[in-house]
Amino acid sequence: QKYPRRRHLRPQKLAPRAIPRHISEMNVNTLIIGAGAAGMMCAAHAGPGTLVVDHAKAAGEKIRISGGGRCNFTNLHASPANFISQNPHFCKSALKRYSQWDFMALVDQHNIPWHEKTLGQLFCDTSAKDIIAMLRAEMDKVGAQLWLQSDVGKIDHDGSSFQVQLTRDGRETDIQARNLVVACGGKSIPKMGATGLGYQIAARFDLPVVAPRAGLVPLTFGDDRFKPLAGTATPARVSAGTASFDEAILFTHRGLSGPAVLQASSYWQEGDSITLNLTPQGSLLSFLQDQRRSQGRKALTTVLGNVLPGRLVDFLRTDLALTGNIADQSDAQLGTLCESLQNWTLTPGGSEGYRTAEVTLGGVDTDALSSKTMGAKSVDGLYFIGECVDVTGWLGGYNFQWAWSSGWAAGRDI
Ligand code: FDA
Repeated sequence: QKYPRRRHLRPQKLAPRAIPRHISEMNVNTLIIGAGAAGMMCAAHAGPGTLVVDHAKAAGEKIRISGGGRCNFTNLHASPANFISQNPHFCKSALKRYSQWDFMALVDQHNIPWHEKTLGQLFCDTSAKDIIAMLRAEMDKVGAQLWLQSDVGKIDHDGSSFQVQLTRDGRETDIQARNLVVACGGKSIPKMGATGLGYQIAARFDLPVVAPRAGLVPLTFGDDRFKPLAGTATPARVSAGTASFDEAILFTHRGLSGPAVLQASSYWQEGDSITLNLTPQGSLLSFLQDQRRSQGRKALTTVLGNVLPGRLVDFLRTDLALTGNIADQSDAQLGTLCESLQNWTLTPGGSEGYRTAEVTLGGVDTDALSSKTMGAKSVDGLYFIGECVDVTGWLGGYNFQWAWSSGWAAGRDI
C-alpha cells in the first residue's frame, strides 16, 4: 500500500516566534476600574466592549473572604433604612430597581445553594467562591474582558472620551474609553488592596467627597481595661448617636467588638460615648425582685450569673459593689444596679481603623451623582458605584446588595 505523502510532517522552517507587539493603545466602550462586587456586576450589564481592570491578583477578593468564606450576599429585609448616607434618599432608586429578590433570582439561576442564617442574612451553603464564579460567568456571557495586576496611572478626559494609562506586566497601555466606571471600593483593609483611588478620581474631576472614615469596626479604649474579659461574648443593646442594635457584643484585648458594636461603630464619631444595655430582654428589676423573694440566700453574683456571663460578673464585682446575698439588697440598690447594667456608658478612645474595618463610610458625595444611573452629573460617561459612593450599609449583607444594585444601575445606563 502506498501512503500519501505526508507533506505536513515535513520539517518546516519555523516562522520566527512572534514577539508580542507592544499594545500602546486600545479602544473600549467602557472601562471599569475595580473587579470587586460592584465592578463585576456592572460589567455583566454594561454591554459589549467592556474591560474591567484591577491591580489585585484575583477578582472579587473581598467576596471570597466575606461571611467567613460563605459570603453574606444579601439580606431579605434590605431597604433604604439600612443604609447610611448624607442623603438617605439616594439609594432608594437603585435598591428598588435591582433588589435583593433580583440577586436571589440570579443566585438561583446559577444553582448556588444558600440559606438564611439569622436576621434575614443570606449565605452560600458551600463557598463564597460560588458568587465569584457566578459573576465571572455573567461577565463571560457578555464578553467582558478582565485584566488583573494592572496599575492605573494618569486619567484624562477630552470632553467625549477618557484616556487612562495602565501598566500591566511592565507594559503600558493607553486605554481610550467612552465610559469610565469607578468601582475601586473604599479604604478598608489596605492589605487586601484597598487604596481609596476612587476618591482621588472624584477629586480629579472636581466632584465632592464626604470625608471617608472606618465603619463596621471594633472600638478601642487606649488601655487594656477589658483584657481580663477578652473573648467573652454576650447579647446586648448598643446605642451610638441615634441608632441602637440588639445583637452580640464581644470583649477584646483592646476594647469591644461583635455585631452590635460593629453596627453601632458606623454611627459613632470620635469623642462620642456609647451606651451598653447588658440585659436588653425583659425587665431586669422584676427578675431580681423575684429572685430576692424566692432565692434570697443566693449570692447576688450567683443570681446575676443567670443573666450575664460569669467572667463579666466577676469583672463588674468591684465597680458595682456586688457583695452579699440578694436578700440584702434594697429596692433602691437593685434599681441602681439595673441602671448600671442597662445604661453602661463608655467613651471609646478610637477604633481599629481601616486595618480591620469592614467598610468605609463617606465617599463620593451623592449630590454629584444621578441616583438612577450613578453617573456624575457634571461629567458625561463617568460613573461611581459600590463602596466608594457615600452609601454604606449595615452589617448583614446590605453592603453587597448596594454593590449589586449600584453596579446594575450603572451597567444598565451604559
Ligand atoms: P471592593 O472592595 O469589593 O472592590 C474594589 C476592587 O477595586 C478590588 O478588587 C480592588 O483590588 C480594586 N482596586 C482598589 N484600588 C485599586 C487601584 N488603585 N487600582 C486598581 N484596582 C483597585 N458585605 C456584605 O454585604 N456581606 C458580607 O458578608 C461582608 N463581609 C465582609 C468581610 C470583610 C472582611 C470585609 C472587609 C468586608 C465585608 N463586606 C461584606 C463588605 C463588602 O466586602 C464591601 O462592601 C464590598 O466588597 C464593596 O464592593 P465594591 O465592589 O465597591 O468594592
